[in-house]
Amino acid sequence: MTVILALLLAAAPAFAAPRPDLEALLKKMTLEEKVGQLQQAGGPIEGSPALLELAGKGKIGSTLNVRGAKTVNALQRAALGTRLGIPLLFGFDVIHGYRTIFPIPLALAATWDPAVAEAAARLSAREAVLDGLRWTFAPMVDIARDPRWGRVAEGAGEDPFLGSAMARAYVRGFQGKDPASSDSLAACAKHWVGYGAAEAGRDYSTTEISERTLREIYFPPFKAALDEGVLTFMSAFNDLNGVPASANAFTLTKVLRGEWGFKGFVVSDWDSVAQLIPHGLADGADEAARLALGAGVDMEMNSVLYSSEVPKLVKDGRLKTAAVDEAVRRVLRVKAALGLFERPYADEALASAAPDAAARKAARDAAVRSLVLLKNDGGLLPLSKSLKTLAVIGPLADDGAAVLGSWTGDGKAAEAVTVLAGLRAALPGATVVFSTGCAVTGDSDAGFAEAVAAARSADAVVLVLGEAGDMSGEASSRAFLDLPGRQLDLAKAVLAAGRPTAVVLLNGRPLTLSGLAEKAPAILEAWQPGTEGGAAVAAVLFGDAGPGGKLPITFPRTLGQVPLYYNHKNTGRPPSESDHYTSKYLDAPVTPLFRFGHGLSYASVRLSGLTVSAGKAGSYAVAVDAENAGAREGDEVVQLYIRRAAASVTRHVAELKGFRRLTLKPGEKRRVEFTLGPRELGFHGLDMRFAVEPGVYEVMAGTDSAPGLSARLTVAL
Ligand code: BGC
Repeated sequence: MTVILALLLAAAPAFAAPRPDLEALLKKMTLEEKVGQLQQAGGPIEGSPALLELAGKGKIGSTLNVRGAKTVNALQRAALGTRLGIPLLFGFDVIHGYRTIFPIPLALAATWDPAVAEAAARLSAREAVLDGLRWTFAPMVDIARDPRWGRVAEGAGEDPFLGSAMARAYVRGFQGKDPASSDSLAACAKHWVGYGAAEAGRDYSTTEISERTLREIYFPPFKAALDEGVLTFMSAFNDLNGVPASANAFTLTKVLRGEWGFKGFVVSDWDSVAQLIPHGLADGADEAARLALGAGVDMEMNSVLYSSEVPKLVKDGRLKTAAVDEAVRRVLRVKAALGLFERPYADEALASAAPDAAARKAARDAAVRSLVLLKNDGGLLPLSKSLKTLAVIGPLADDGAAVLGSWTGDGKAAEAVTVLAGLRAALPGATVVFSTGCAVTGDSDAGFAEAVAAARSADAVVLVLGEAGDMSGEASSRAFLDLPGRQLDLAKAVLAAGRPTAVVLLNGRPLTLSGLAEKAPAILEAWQPGTEGGAAVAAVLFGDAGPGGKLPITFPRTLGQVPLYYNHKNTGRPPSESDHYTSKYLDAPVTPLFRFGHGLSYASVRLSGLTVSAGKAGSYAVAVDAENAGAREGDEVVQLYIRRAAASVTRHVAELKGFRRLTLKPGEKRRVEFTLGPRELGFHGLDMRFAVEPGVYEVMAGTDSAPGLSARLTVAL
């Protein structure tokens, strides 16, 4: 007993201090000290004398981008040396990895396996704390229906149910079992709210979203993050129905605090308090600060209007002390929850290091599960490992940045496995010829001849096409969704060489693939698969692993169809070939090229025997058989959708309400069970109250969002 106690005491850091009584602390604070807690400063990685001075004067409560144990400790020492010694909180965008980069969040959503996102977030948190960080600005849980918006890469796609499952997984992963443990980060659900509905897919653009659509489509992943205990939210850049999200009392206070009881704090987005001026809501710095803080934005990121304006707003009586106190209380509460009062310092013996074998394996496994086989005519894939010559063609084939994508944390392109490197490693005995063919952008076809010659010389071809790493993410909206530059022409020239050719796509958003999709026999959507991306692609192309991901977002045929998403309303005139006066186009089909939930596998799984029966407490048990009728082991994602033919408000043609990813051996059959409870069956009725309406529900099971099986469920009053 004594030995254990002695060991524990020895392990406890020397600076451990007790967690203070936060109310007592708040009472001691001057107005200036309170405002300091509400101000976050953006900083260079290595810190700066200016930041040290701010920390030493208690003018900031948090920083972003500063990292490295020694650097953050220097700032922390300055903060702890102030009169009240309140620790700083160091934040950074750890989005899909810190040093080891996992697939982008859109790709992690394509796993349809929240455990993968959770494991990725857990490992990322463990890496980030080594550099003194305790807060990540993730997960981004914005629902997005417009692939022009570059930030679709950062979210889980178009569906609120899948998005909610992913949101919960990230929060669990980043925050761990206890956010106070030294390997956890505070998570941040962003961007509250509606940011993904940016008009015309242009980043930062205006949004107009009805309250019902907010509640049904855009809110649920945020609520899911909150239910999982997320400690912070970030207010968005967008104008939402005339009141910018960073000054929107309806979303920030009425819903988030009032209805949902959120106890953590809200940080603004970068300069989004100051941006209330160009939005046309505030006529000056003082109004901007008053409107943001008054609406419920507790901490200001980067712009410094809270520092400069809040003291005088309070003194003039334009802002209540109680509003400032409440914001400070929330910030202190999160710092306490993170254990910062007890353990404010990072361990300087530690630092972010190159991914080790275990981290690489985790990244590779995640990447394998995120790959979506869009097309595989004639079973072209998997390719045989006994081929003698493989041609790898395309401008992205040996591009380390393209496999990492946007928001790469401390990741290094040089540490990433490109597709070319992955293929070379997988085929040690073969000759691998490589030709870029063309650049990602630009108009030159000068490299086509060499690429075609390479294709002709080979037994098989892997064509690696898509978007450069920085063509998606923030401020990376595109007005066209085609393959950029001359890549489509390159693909046509290479395909005309007539060799067995698989296309691998690296991209952060759905692309319009008309012209390619018809001609290429096999297409593997690899997204931006992270540090081990190339190894994962090689494993799937050569059958060491099977593809089993599914699209978390619709791939349109053509830009003019956008926004195109599976859970749309039926309209009064649903599209019909035989009736001209129906909801469709003269010059394009209404259907997508690849629908939400689509993805092929090396297995061949058939569903049958869908049943629905009454369960406990207003719940229904749904079951369906999944059987692998193919000759190879492989994955399938069984998907459950519901639909109501009539209700008090119109419903969507299909709504995802369950999913399960399975691996089945040849001939293996498994019964998959789901529960449909009030949470799945309810919706916001005419009075906006969430309730289950009695009546007939159609329950559908399938392997994509056009499910083949259907059963009736009658819900009685
Ligand atoms: C982005 C946020 C990000 C923040 C800090 C902003 O521009 O919109 O998502 O967390 O910068 O880097």
